[in-house]
Amino acid sequence: MHYEVVLPAAGSGKRMGAGKNKLFLQLQNEPILIHTLKVFETDPNCTGIWLAVRPDERNFIRTLLKEHNITKVSGMPDGGAERQHSVHACIKAMNHVSIVLVHDAARPFITHTIIEQLVNVAHENGAAIAGVRAKDTMKKVVQGVVKETIERDSLWMVQTPQAFRFDLLAEAEDVAEKIGFLGTDEAMLVERLGHEVFIVESTYENVKMTTQEDLVFGEAIIRQRQQ
Ligand code: C5P
Repeated sequence: MHYEVVLPAAGSGKRMGAGKNKLFLQLQNEPILIHTLKVFETDPNCTGIWLAVRPDERNFIRTLLKEHNITKVSGMPDGGAERQHSVHACIKAMNHVSIVLVHDAARPFITHTIIEQLVNVAHENGAAIAGVRAKDTMKKVVQGVVKETIERDSLWMVQTPQAFRFDLLAEAEDVAEKIGFLGTDEAMLVERLGHEVFIVESTYENVKMTTQEDLVFGEAIIRQRQQ
């Protein structure tokens, strides 16, 4: 089943501390952004890629796309101050599609198999997100003191991609903008509408390149996949 993908790529990457957009850092001689783009470029079910970019990086990204033969980018709207604004800019720029995926450009290791599962579940139910089970014991801590140990069986660590029927996500984004609600992912906006969101079990490899040690994991994942 076909889908289009929104890739927010307009962050500053402060936590990486690289002094530039972390998506331009290299893993095995290719920028993180290109690794992520290639997943969608090579997925026959992906019919369009929407990249939210910082205006001062647009030309550089255009050059990268040419160099790496990425042909599916349909639009590159200006990103916003927060990730949610960057995603919304893409949704507003897109024509209606059946299913839209939102995926952090900083997660280069997502697989076609998980994408396909997400698209199918979203097609059937409206909303599906990737996640993994919490591995560690989870506690609620307030000002350095443990208040509660949370039952782990129902806890998931949520990732992207998050897949939606286009109309559902567009409505959720519009409502959030109107009332000034800022979520930490797209699913939160859909949950606020009272719509059920389904989880698709993903892998721990689908890590977001956030801090320096993630780059070490990233290099290791690529090496392991090359074996
Ligand atoms: O900072 P973090 O890694 O959580 O950001 C997730 C993704 O959202 C990254 O790919 C980043 O480029 C993007 N982003 C964005 N616009 C922002 C902030 C982050 O497109 N204002």
